[in-house]
Amino acid sequence: MPSLLDNWAADFAGCRTRPRPYRNAAVSFRSHTIDEYRARARAVRETGLNVFKFPAEMIPGCDLLTDSGTTTMTMRQWSELLLGDESYGSNEGYFLFKEQVVETFGRGWANRDPDRENVFIFHQGRAAEHALFTCLATRLEPAERPYLIPSNGHFDTTQANIEANGFEARNLFCPEARSGDTEARFKGNMDLAALKKLLSDRDNRARVPLVYLTITNNTGGGQPVSMANVTEVSELCHSHGLPLMLDACRFAENAWFIKQHEPGFEDRSVAEIVRMMFERVDGFHISLKKDGLANIGGCLVVKEDGLVPECYPELGSALTMHQVLVEGHPTYGGLAGRDLKAVVEGLKTVVREDYLTARIGQVGRFGDAIDRECGAGVTIRPYGGHAVYIDLDRFFDGTALKDEDFPGISLTALLLAAGHRMCELGVYAFGKNVDGSEVGPDPRVNNVRAAVPRLCYEDVDLQAAAEAVGVLYRNRDRIPGVRVTFGQDRPMRHFISRFEFKDEE
Ligand code: F0G
Repeated sequence: MPSLLDNWAADFAGCRTRPRPYRNAAVSFRSHTIDEYRARARAVRETGLNVFKFPAEMIPGCDLLTDSGTTTMTMRQWSELLLGDESYGSNEGYFLFKEQVVETFGRGWANRDPDRENVFIFHQGRAAEHALFTCLATRLEPAERPYLIPSNGHFDTTQANIEANGFEARNLFCPEARSGDTEARFKGNMDLAALKKLLSDRDNRARVPLVYLTITNNTGGGQPVSMANVTEVSELCHSHGLPLMLDACRFAENAWFIKQHEPGFEDRSVAEIVRMMFERVDGFHISLKKDGLANIGGCLVVKEDGLVPECYPELGSALTMHQVLVEGHPTYGGLAGRDLKAVVEGLKTVVREDYLTARIGQVGRFGDAIDRECGAGVTIRPYGGHAVYIDLDRFFDGTALKDEDFPGISLTALLLAAGHRMCELGVYAFGKNVDGSEVGPDPRVNNVRAAVPRLCYEDVDLQAAAEAVGVLYRNRDRIPGVRVTFGQDRPMRHFISRFEFKDEE
């Protein structure tokens, strides 16, 4: 006979809102309030409308510049920081980190040969990219045409490191991503047919030293890559004797999408799906500032029995030398020992499904709030794992603004005045100025990105940011273009440029 308490179970089951699977254990108050609009507007002008130069402490709302290194750490991570071992050589965190790499990514990543390191620690992701492409460049024969690194979508630092070494970075976005399909679930996939075609040409094949898949695909809107795509790309690469690498910054978020949306994976755990993805590849680099749930850290890992050591036998020792030259002893790789311990704890937490459901659900609710506030579909759907992307072509559709007015820069400057920070990842960030003419990104990418830091904001904060976007959308006819006053012809120009509004001449 059911008890009185049991009788209520069905009633409570009707509650729709699921509590967060964590609660705040420490908070930091903001030093500025929303009332200081004029001070903020002055600072926006003084910092040349450049969101990267705006003082963070003057942001009362959401700082959505990046999800990188902005994670709120758990109490367990903070306690690990206190237990850090700061020994110069072979600190405790180094061994724990290597064990965690095997635990998280699978047995294939174990280091069996004590004389050949397979885990190369760096202070962040791009340092790992720099090391890989610099060392790879010295291992390749000089060639007439540049070497080529195909990807489903290189992040900008990856592309910059590839190009700095004289290679070509080639993005093979899948057709669903290019057509703006709003139903397709795995828009981060690589265009397999395009890769096949590229590699079937003998001259092109000779130009490709390795292939990359970025999970999730940040440049393509934070969209996930399916297990089927990882498998097919891996089989194709391996049939050509080519190593496949992952840029694995958001590996756990990618695995969560596979579990949710790829048939056959619903009953597998995220941890298991992660290991399956990594079984199929020969190496990876990762910025631990994303799914490492840490504020700093990166690494490059190669499978000892994979194609990287087979194709480039001396690469490992070159990487170790590079670490010694620029990062310090390889067992700490530019990090404090305590950071390594925080990362180990972060890697344990990040595959929790309650965490991932709350995190990715929050990003989705934020995207819906933006569209609701704008009364129109201005976001890229379906949402990716870490950010909402506002499609600038749709946002400014029907206004007189053109690409050379860089309206994304205007939008982010006005949002800063409203107290929220997002960044333009579009014709300014990804375009270049060649001999005085603008060359847009090809394929075209033109978004403002609102990246949501992990475990940091509550829905009410994000709702406030969505409302500010709505105000600007409704008044988009009043938004002027900008003129670039500094840095238009520089590489990675969005970090350093200065702008002014055109109607303030
Ligand atoms: N790869 C991807 C896919 C990234 O998103 C990033 C950084 C990196 C590599 C470089 O890692 O910052 O540790 O050097 N993305 C940040 C962002 C900066 O805002 O998307 P890093």
